[in-house]
Amino acid sequence: MRHIQRAPLYSKKRIAKDTVEMVIQSKEIAEQARPGQFLHMHVPHHTLRRPISIAHIDRENHLITILYKEIGSGTRTLSQCTVGDEINVLGPLGNGFPLEQQVGSTALLIGGGIGVPPLYALGTELRDRGVNVISVLGYQTKESVFYEAQFKELGETIIVTDDGSYGEKGLVTDALSLLKDFDHYYTCGPKPMIQAVVNSIDAVPGHISLEERMGCGLGACFACVIPTDDEKGYKKICQDGPVFSQEEVVL
Ligand code: FES
Repeated sequence: MRHIQRAPLYSKKRIAKDTVEMVIQSKEIAEQARPGQFLHMHVPHHTLRRPISIAHIDRENHLITILYKEIGSGTRTLSQCTVGDEINVLGPLGNGFPLEQQVGSTALLIGGGIGVPPLYALGTELRDRGVNVISVLGYQTKESVFYEAQFKELGETIIVTDDGSYGEKGLVTDALSLLKDFDHYYTCGPKPMIQAVVNSIDAVPGHISLEERMGCGLGACFACVIPTDDEKGYKKICQDGPVFSQEEVVL
């Protein structure tokens, strides 16, 4: 069940270049949220809500962490909220990662940029279920890197930057060639990165999480459709996703 409510902002901090971490407090959302789902945030003075992935769920303390990039007027306005402000939140929305479909004992998480946060929520729950977690995280530059320590607590973590200013230089797919021993992969990030990941991993089941521009977030406006091979011909990312199995949609 989804909720629309005014949730107090519990904390807010800038954790990397143009990247903000917000923690909001909501018993209902924290109890129901699953890794891979998102919140649809109302931004003061803006018509469209902003979909933001859930990065961490603290069910005990009713706290939900989200991370976003400040890339426009909406997200910059959101960042002006201060601790204690009540934020209008709709969620949790979408279908999360199907944890029960995890195959084998080792999961590989592959994230790019602002696609990294939902994988942290996923990695935490997989680790708690006894799954070995390996992470490959790609960022533009050293200044863009976030959550390295958090992922390292989950397991082996490889950081890749486009310009080589931190970690390995190159793309996440360059690092994948070094990793052979995993049973299931999960990826989230820019679509070209997801395409490259899907094309470079054979014979291992995987799930992808797509981040697209959205309108209603509720399946009503068709702003987020993606082609499929089935007779219907499309799926809605907000409602059918944002998580799909690798073969479910046409990238
Ligand atoms: Fe409106 Fe998906 S955002 S249908």
